[in-house]
Amino acid sequence: MKVLIAGGNGSMGPHVIAALRGRHELRVTDVTPAPPGFAHEYRQLDAGDHDGVIAAAAGMDAIVNLSVSRTDRRGAFDANVRGNYNLAVAAVRHGIRTIVNTGPYYQVAGPAYDDFDFGLHPDLPPQPGTRLYALTKALGHEVLRVFSERHDLYVQTLLFYLMRDPAASRRLDANDKGGVGQDMIPPYIIAWPDTGLAVRAALEIDRARLPSRCETYFVLPAVPHGKYRNDKLGRVLGWEPPHRLEYLWMRRIDR
Ligand SMILES: NC(=O)c1ccc[n+]([C@@H]2O[C@H](COP(=O)([O-])OP(=O)(O)OC[C@H]3O[C@@H](n4cnc5c(N)ncnc54)[C@H](O)[C@@H]3O)[C@@H](O)[C@H]2O)c1
Repeated sequence: MKVLIAGGNGSMGPHVIAALRGRHELRVTDVTPAPPGFAHEYRQLDAGDHDGVIAAAAGMDAIVNLSVSRTDRRGAFDANVRGNYNLAVAAVRHGIRTIVNTGPYYQVAGPAYDDFDFGLHPDLPPQPGTRLYALTKALGHEVLRVFSERHDLYVQTLLFYLMRDPAASRRLDANDKGGVGQDMIPPYIIAWPDTGLAVRAALEIDRARLPSRCETYFVLPAVPHGKYRNDKLGRVLGWEPPHRLEYLWMRRIDR
């Protein structure tokens, strides 16, 4: 497939590119300039640029949205809301039927759910709260949901929270803050490379297997705490994160 990756020059971009490289043809956009020696087609583009986004999506088969702005008021609306609107319009204009969107889990399970101690799932009624990041991401999510209702467009939103380099974490000593044997707090974490694999699983799924044209997933390995449920990954995508990160939540017993 020809895949447009919006916001591909951030932290998650390289992991998504690594997971898709050699399987798909990539066109990457971001508001920042291309990294030196970048190996794929690259366009410097603001997600809020309506015409630019439509032009960038021409000839593509699918869109992955990684763009995010967290604290700047204008930037948050441009990247997180208008960006999704522009991508959805571009998808409809070019007959693109797949959008894989991303965001933090609290754009669905925000502060109103903090006291729940188990069983939170991605199909809860969204309660993002009023934090700019969560609220604008939730608005962008809603924009895509409405487009998927009105158009032949399949939107999947992957929600993350914390990421770890699995190799680096493994080297931590049990006494290090947040290290081995300290319990996984909060219990929502994933290995960086698995973020790219999750995007790949959502991109490559046969659309006929999706329960609806708008699906949302909590993307984390199965953890015993059970506060956040990840079962939809296996049930719908047929995929689970290969890194289970047990060493983060298993307690070391000193005798
Ligand atoms: N990094 C995390 O810890 C984390 C946690 C939870 C969820 N997420 C989600 O994962 C996705 C990827 O995040 P990330 O970690 O790569 O974030 P990042 O901040 O590292 O990268 C975001 C990218 O978006 C680009 N961007 C910002 N404003 C833009 C605009 N107006 N137009 C075009 N590009 C713009 C930035 O230049 C940057 O390259 C986002 O949806 C984010 O909400 C990330």
